Parts: sequence; structure tokens; C-alpha cells
Amino acid sequence: MKILVINGPNLNMLGIREPEIYGSATYDDLLDTVRRGADGLGMEVDFFQSNHEGALVDEIQRAYGVYDGIVINPAAYTHTSVALLDAIKAVGIPAVEVHISDVREREDFRQVSYVRKGCIGTVMGEGFDGYVHALRILKEHMEG
Ligand code: DQA
Repeated sequence: MKILVINGPNLNMLGIREPEIYGSATYDDLLDTVRRGADGLGMEVDFFQSNHEGALVDEIQRAYGVYDGIVINPAAYTHTSVALLDAIKAVGIPAVEVHISDVREREDFRQVSYVRKGCIGTVMGEGFDGYVHALRILKEHMEG
């Protein structure tokens, strides 16, 4: 099972940005956590991070025919991007939405998620482990 893990804007700043919300571990630490989790589940993972909406759309399109699943933390684009939702629906690859923080407990403008409508599941508020939880959801989905 080949999984593409996509991270949106400002997630490359993990460890620096708002540590009281996102913690002090870095983006590289996140990749280590996900790699270890994927190994344990027997899944193969590749990573992509961009601060640009169009680059994220391009990457989702590139995943077509290459990956069996997508784990996506669209970050701020969660709350604004119909383009990301359309891209996920266009490729038809099972996708799980992840948020490090529990967005339900945060500002009103974070209560909308466009991508959620194209995802088979959502994980939030579990920190970096949430990405591994998302891998498990994909694995269970694929194994039927
Ligand atoms: C986030 C939550 C979003 O609201 C925010 O814009 C992010 C990160 C999270 O992982 O908790 O950048 O997706």
C-alpha cells in the first residue's frame, strides 16, 4: 500500500509556529513519526509539503494511478479550498483528513472543512500520532 502524506501551508514551520498549539517537535520529527508508524503497518509512505494551493492540487493530481491512499493535512486551506476538495474527488483516491490540533475547540472560521466532504475519515487533536491513526483508517478501508 503506497500512501502519499500531504501537508499544507506553515506545517514546515512546526516546532517554531505556535508551540503552545502544535508542540515543539519539528516537521522532520513529524516525518519520522509517520515513517515509523507506516513501517509498523507495512505501508509505504511518501511526503509532500507546500505553502501553495496550486502546488497541492498538482500533487493530488500526480497521485492518480500512483498511490493507493492519501493522508492530507490541508492546514489553513482546509477552511477555504474548494480546489483541494475537487482534486481529491477528481482522482478518487481514498483520503483521510488530519489536523494536529483539535479544530473543534478553536475559532469559528476553523469549523468549516471543504476537503472533509471528499474524505473517508477525519482525525483531529491527536498530535503527530493522528497521522498514524489516519494510516490505520486507510489500511482498514482498503482491506475492506
Ligand atoms: C491545522 C489546523 C488549521 O486550522 C490550521 O490552519 C493549520 C494546522 C492543524 O493541523 O491543527 O495550519 O490543520
